Amino acid sequence: MAQAQPEDKATYDQGAKLFKGNCASCHKVDKDMVGPALQGARARWEGKGDIHEWVKNSSAYIKTGNSYAKEIFDKWKGSVMTAQALSNEEIDAILYFADNQAAPVAEKPAAGAPVATAPRTTSNWPWLVVIALLLLVVGLSLSGVKRSLSNAVREAEGQEPLPDRGILHGLGQWAWKNKIFASIIGLFIVVFLTLKMWDAAWVIGVYGGEEVEHYKPEQPILFNHTLHAGKADKGNLAIDCQYCHSGAEKSRHAGIPSTNVCMNCHKAVDTGRNTGTTEIAKIYAAVGWDPDKQEYTGKQEPVRWVKVHNLPDHAYFNHSQHVAVGKLECQECHGPIDEQMDVAEQWAPLTMGWCIECHNTKEVKMAGNGYYDEVMARLEDSDMGHEELKKYLEDDKISVKELGGWECAKCHY
Ligand code: HEC
Ligand code: HEC
Ligand code: HEC
Ligand code: HEC
Ligand code: HEC
Ligand code: HEC
Repeated sequence: MAQAQPEDKATYDQGAKLFKGNCASCHKVDKDMVGPALQGARARWEGKGDIHEWVKNSSAYIKTGNSYAKEIFDKWKGSVMTAQALSNEEIDAILYFADNQAAPVAEKPAAGAPVATAPRTTSNWPWLVVIALLLLVVGLSLSGVKRSLSNAVREAEGQEPLPDRGILHGLGQWAWKNKIFASIIGLFIVVFLTLKMWDAAWVIGVYGGEEVEHYKPEQPILFNHTLHAGKADKGNLAIDCQYCHSGAEKSRHAGIPSTNVCMNCHKAVDTGRNTGTTEIAKIYAAVGWDPDKQEYTGKQEPVRWVKVHNLPDHAYFNHSQHVAVGKLECQECHGPIDEQMDVAEQWAPLTMGWCIECHNTKEVKMAGNGYYDEVMARLEDSDMGHEELKKYLEDDKISVKELGGWECAKCHY
């Protein structure tokens, strides 16, 4: 499609490739799509902010308070740009490509390339409200303390106590006189805000409602999960998930394997049934392997896999807690990746609603699980614990919620 005659053809081509691999699921060069048209973006940012930082991690950049970043974020409500693991030079190449693409022929994603839906919207207002309320309470009690102190002094000196002044004092006095009424209003406000927050937490991150179009970015190498991890009787290789994602059992992150792991097999296997040698050749380029001479060249070019799952920073998720302790199958959260995902996708919504729904219903497998022996012993030891245990077991099972899986602090820093 390159009908353009760009001055710097190499940069242009590099940019075109990177654009296609990383940006085309959400951006077109000349038209708005999930995100704005990228043509002219560099000029739009001139003097207003750091476009590199934006592309690398737009949510982090918005938090720096840059007003232009906030402006486009607000304008594109409902979708957010995902972080892009690129260098400044690579971003420059993409922007160069966007600015120099000649005809309005949009860069078409490769045939069958998935179009990502717009991921999460995050909003900070629930936290702002909470902080505002806290400040109000602190303010009220501080001014109260101050007044009592000065009144104590005045009283000691035989003077009249200070009259109440200020809206806060007035409000406080009024609330004190109308305790019941004030409590009802207070309760109402608290319930209202809690529901609002709950609501927000529930829907945030769900995109497309029920018919979630699963986020499925194009990857630099067409790695096929079904082929590698699928069942052997269907002609697949049935490699264990943890052969490649070895962190899942022991640590917070499952991790993405390095290309050296691929080479354990691909030193020998240079051809695939669907893609011939083209995709596997990319592994060789990445690790610097010359398949003809059968030797390493020393020239490496790490593969930049595009992250599929992205929880917001304030939420904490730990794989080993779920895989090693909870004894959950990967598929419960990642779907039939070994059966029908030639390209890895985000299968679950990753919302708070999704987490706590499972915590509410999922039975914890206690028997023969070392981790819980101690918990059980603690519960059985004390009278109170005993009562609690009986309550938990009323429905014959202990859910994650009953063990504290609904406590805010377990999932939020
Ligand atoms: C998952 C969708 C998605 C992907 C992938 C994506 N973007 Fe974005 N981008 C957006 C959205 C949405 C916005 C609008 C701002 C917002 O809401 O965050 C945006 C805004 C931008 C802007 C600001 C545009 C302006 O007019 O000022 C630039 C620049 C940008 N993206 C560059 C890129 C580049 C470069 C890539 C690829 C390396 C990329 N984006 C990949 C969704 C995406
Ligand atoms: C031969 C190695 C290999 C095996 C086996 C394998 N994977 Fe992967 N997996 C990868 C690579 C490479 C990626 C990164 C590229 C991609 O997203 O497709 C990945 C990505 C993923 C992702 C998306 C990660 C993200 O970016 O958020 C999930 C989820 C995943 N794998 C789950 C599984 C599960 C579950 C199994 C077992 C049924 C499995 N994988 C088996 C190599 C493997
Ligand atoms: C209880 C749900 C759950 C189970 C079970 C689970 N995962 Fe995940 N997985 C997640 C979530 C949530 C994320 C996103 C984490 C983040 O962004 O911090 C994730 C992310 C990943 C990623 C991306 C890289 C990373 O470590 O963040 C890979 C790869 C992955 N999972 C593989 C696996 C494999 C393999 C198994 C089984 C051995 C597994 N997962 C079991 C929920 C789960
Ligand atoms: C345990 C051995 C093993 C590991 C590890 C392994 N592969 Fe493979 N892979 C194979 C075999 C065998 C084939 C050929 C299957 C066929 O086409 O019949 C293959 C095929 C492929 C193909 C071509 C698929 C097609 O349909 O044309 C690609 C691309 C590929 N692997 C990428 C990777 C990547 C990337 C990694 C590392 C993350 C990896 N493989 C790790 C054994 C492995
Ligand atoms: C498919 C069911 C399932 C989903 C989905 C799930 N969990 Fe869990 N989670 C469990 C089970 C089962 C346990 C109990 C095992 C244990 O104690 O570690 C658990 C335990 C936990 C714990 C430890 C609780 C405690 O009391 O110590 C945390 C924290 C946690 N999950 C966070 C999350 C987050 C965050 C998400 C969403 C991103 C999530 N979980 C999604 C099933 C799930
Ligand atoms: C089992 C894990 C878990 C528990 C328990 C939990 N949360 Fe969450 N929460 C999450 C996850 C994951 C997200 C991110 C969802 C997203 O962005 O799609 C989230 C998001 C939120 C948000 C939205 C923040 C934003 O991104 O704007 C709020 C507010 C929130 N949680 C409050 C709470 C409160 C209050 C509690 C206690 C009553 C709580 N959470 C308990 C997992 C949990």
